[in-house]
Amino acid sequence: MASERERALDPAILQQLFRDAPLPIAVYGVDGALQHSNDAHEAFADALGDASGIGRFNALYDLRSERYGHRAPFQRTVAGEVLDYAFTVRPDVSAPAPDTLHFHRLLLPTYDPERRITNIVSVIIDVSDWQHAERDKARLHAELQQAQKTEGLGLLAGSIAHDFNNLLVGVLGNVSLLLARLPPGSSLRRTAEAIELAARRAADVARQLLAYAGKGRFRVEELSLSELAREISELLRITLAQRAELHMELPPNLATVKADATQMRQVVMNLVTNARDAVAHGGVITLRTGELPASRVDLSAYLGRPDPQATDFVFLDVEDTGFGMDVLTAARIFDPFFTTKPAGRGLGLSAVLGIVRSHGGAMSVTSSPGVGTTMRVLLPAHGQPTKTLRLMPAPEPSPPAMQCGHVLVIDDEEMIRGLLTSMLEALGHTVTPCSSAAEALHALEHDAKSACCVLLDLNMPQHDGNEVFARIRARYPRLPVVFMSGYEARAAPIADGFLHKPFTMGDLRVALSKVIAPSPQ
Ligand SMILES: Nc1ncnc2c1ncn2[C@@H]1O[C@H](COP(=O)(O)OP(=O)(O)OP(=O)(O)O)[C@@H](O)[C@H]1O
Ligand SMILES: [Mg+2]
Repeated sequence: MASERERALDPAILQQLFRDAPLPIAVYGVDGALQHSNDAHEAFADALGDASGIGRFNALYDLRSERYGHRAPFQRTVAGEVLDYAFTVRPDVSAPAPDTLHFHRLLLPTYDPERRITNIVSVIIDVSDWQHAERDKARLHAELQQAQKTEGLGLLAGSIAHDFNNLLVGVLGNVSLLLARLPPGSSLRRTAEAIELAARRAADVARQLLAYAGKGRFRVEELSLSELAREISELLRITLAQRAELHMELPPNLATVKADATQMRQVVMNLVTNARDAVAHGGVITLRTGELPASRVDLSAYLGRPDPQATDFVFLDVEDTGFGMDVLTAARIFDPFFTTKPAGRGLGLSAVLGIVRSHGGAMSVTSSPGVGTTMRVLLPAHGQPTKTLRLMPAPEPSPPAMQCGHVLVIDDEEMIRGLLTSMLEALGHTVTPCSSAAEALHALEHDAKSACCVLLDLNMPQHDGNEVFARIRARYPRLPVVFMSGYEARAAPIADGFLHKPFTMGDLRVALSKVIAPSPQ
């Protein structure tokens, strides 16, 4: 039957099939030199030549070429095998989308009536789309898993940190009250100070966890990462001096980003601290910033999904020549509590990632053991710098003595109401503690005139702090309101002041002094 079919095939049909087939087909001699090729093959060679930036794609014309691995399969086909093998072509790196091209090539020998091999036929199939789709699928799957893990851990971290913070309000607040009451020479002062120090460290853990959960303080302004890195490096230079050389490549006219300066400082500090730990026996730390058009960024190498509308990015690299890390370590460094350091908490990079993500940015790590590490933060560019952007807040002047007055405290936690009452009384104020908005409004209705300020907890489970604020503001527009929160919600209306939980007597005094008139001299 097969021979009947073959006999029936008109050579003209074969010719036409060869010429017009949409697949690149070529016929080679047993010496590997090209003898015939169809139009699709020529078009393919031209297209590959263009894409790879090497002109005509010669490897296709000579099967003896070592390049692209054609030679070994060719030799096996000449020995009588039918083969299907894969080869890839890396396009010109300056191409707009430098994606590797993937092909399958079928090589089969043809025979004369004496069963001697006369020629080798090659058929090429472009499987790039399929390969890229598979790769994208795998990447999306990995991203989804990562996103689910981050979301779950973020929720957990956020709620632990919130409760933890509230407990710390009690510890830090009471110890500062105690310190205020202990006479200067008291032997208990050292003990109380040790408690205060421990509570501050614990507050730092809570702050890192909140940042990981994307719930840190959030006051967005236009800033320059070059300026920010430069100012922080000035602070770090002295502590780094014994261990590392600090290099800076910070172009002054860098495009700006929209970011929270406090959080960005936390990012740089955490990254530089890690770099410092990595160069424990000496080395170089480089802080580098620059701009990158979105078309040149391969986001598959980054953690985080930046705003797809971003056309340009600004990057900040913290590079060190330290001990680096292996692939297994690098895969876990952003997990909260993952640490390889005896005294590490494993929260630095989790906080960095949380902050970068909540700014619509992304991060990458490049590291090799014994060579060093580069951590890159990528943020969407906002605009060109128009003026020198001031970053470091001016040091707070010590608050002037303020007039004593009547303060309303609204917080649903009894412990915090009690603590604030004691603290405010110690500062010379009178206090009405309220557990709800209704109670506060009722108290104000009876005696609004005497109140000089309201301290309002923003995160009460039963009440929406913003709504309570709006109600007080609507009825008593001149009464200053100071928010209290472990974190500052992005959408929070601008109140008259902000008291970050946990706080000491000193923090409370500073917050109040901004809204209560100074006492007459
Ligand atoms: N520049 C670096 N070079 C080598 N390893 C690093 C570098 N940065 C981070 N790592 C690795 O990642 C781990 C996690 O870092 P991360 O900053 O989250 O926590 P940590 O530094 O161990 O503790 P801390 O909470 O005090 O920051 C480190 O323990 C270390 O193994
Ligand atoms: Mg760290």
